[in-house]
Amino acid sequence: MSTHDRTEPTREPLTGTLIFERGAAESRCVEAPPLDVPVVSLGGYARAAAPALAHVTEVDIARHYERLASANFGVDSGFYPLGSCTMKYNPKIDEWACRLPGFAGIHPYQAEETVQGALELMWGLQESLAEVAGLPAVTLQPAAGAHGELTGLLTIRAYHTAQGDPRKRVLVPDSAHGTNPATVAMCGYEVVQVPSDERGGVDLDALRGLLDTDVAALMLTNPNTLGLFDENILAITAAVHEVGALAYCDGANLNAILGKTRPGDMGFDALHINLHKTFATPHGGGGPGAGPVAVTGALAPFLPGPVVGMTDDGRYTLVTPARSIGRVRSFLGNFGVLVRAYTYIRALGGQGVTEVAEQAVLSANYLRVRLGDAWPVAYDRVCMHEFVLSGGTMRKEHGVRTLDVAKRLLDYGYHPPTIYFPLIVDEAMMIEPTETESKATLDRFADVLLAIAAEAAEDPDLLHGAPYTTPVRRLDEAAAVKEPDLAWRPQEGAGV
Ligand SMILES: Cc1ncc(COP(=O)(O)O)c(C=O)c1O
Repeated sequence: MSTHDRTEPTREPLTGTLIFERGAAESRCVEAPPLDVPVVSLGGYARAAAPALAHVTEVDIARHYERLASANFGVDSGFYPLGSCTMKYNPKIDEWACRLPGFAGIHPYQAEETVQGALELMWGLQESLAEVAGLPAVTLQPAAGAHGELTGLLTIRAYHTAQGDPRKRVLVPDSAHGTNPATVAMCGYEVVQVPSDERGGVDLDALRGLLDTDVAALMLTNPNTLGLFDENILAITAAVHEVGALAYCDGANLNAILGKTRPGDMGFDALHINLHKTFATPHGGGGPGAGPVAVTGALAPFLPGPVVGMTDDGRYTLVTPARSIGRVRSFLGNFGVLVRAYTYIRALGGQGVTEVAEQAVLSANYLRVRLGDAWPVAYDRVCMHEFVLSGGTMRKEHGVRTLDVAKRLLDYGYHPPTIYFPLIVDEAMMIEPTETESKATLDRFADVLLAIAAEAAEDPDLLHGAPYTTPVRRLDEAAAVKEPDLAWRPQEGAGV
């Protein structure tokens, strides 16, 4: 394997000329046709100065966008093992389906009888997700996983309130994704942390000690964010129910158990499903996405409306559940995303989705075993679809941090795994290969990570300085996120 030295460039720097610095005042991309309507004065509405637009030719603008697009990294460009995020390949047939004119061209205000096909699709998706979840009622409205969490917990709150027993607290394991405690707080509940046990599952004794009649719910991810299936799941949900609380499943990791086991059968009362993690819809950078929620019959009357129902004569119709918490999204949710997910399910079929889970788990375990000698696996047991390595030893022995390893991976052309999450693992590196990668890809990635482990031992500074081949080197990541300066402004006196 070839390693990159400190200077070898692999792509044109992104930080070259801006589009505003290209072209010339007389350059044009389009020529407006001659005016064939009367000239009308806009009076006070007319702008005082011409807009500061770039003056470039069509070829310049094509190259500009091509350069920006090629700087992007996505699953279609390379291996993207971002743990917990499940960066699934998005099959092209799903894109084809959602662009069909009959779907793409309809309007949310159309009368129900003119959109029976679209409603049938949504109904079919509700039914499929209910089957996968093992829970009978589904809303497709939420626009993301975190939005699904909020919807599910509001539904649970409405249920408890309707019983005249609103309750105060929600329990969340210490391995949970940050959106879980955030959701709990947004719903007005107090967050109580549950410790993990030495096997990486919920500490059952500690859980029992925290459960009382003020607890509204336990919010649990299973398999959890360590990639581990909780061996005590039935005892956990039973203990929760014993005090009249409900069990909420963060379904972000459903990909690992698709067709194998169902949250409803584990005793969960509510579940959100991140369609982009399990049913291969695109990650939308916060949207548009979909995080449908499935619930038990007892919670169904509180779901947001409308949901799609079927009349006795076989027509599809929108209905609002009897004690609905109201809408959580305008219209019917992100319909294009729902079409993609339904296409994915129908294209694979029942057997196909089960094989998705099998392959995802096999790939993760293959990598876990290949990498385990160089990086200790936190909670070293057979994992599900992802696993968490600890860089604690590497930091102690060579002064190399997991962040350095992640940056070095960029030089080899890989998107790094998730790092520093879950918080309970020292120098965590969380790898999720997903089901679509070949053994050759997994082997190349493992070879690269092992090569980086050798570099860390031989030349730690090489890793401290990485990356060397990216358009920009190390950023102040907090400032880049919190104080982005993305808008171009003309410089004083530039005359643009
Ligand atoms: C375990 C877990 N829960 C919840 C979420 C939130 O999901 P979304 O990004 O769809 O809002 C994520 C996202 O990565 C996650 O990994």
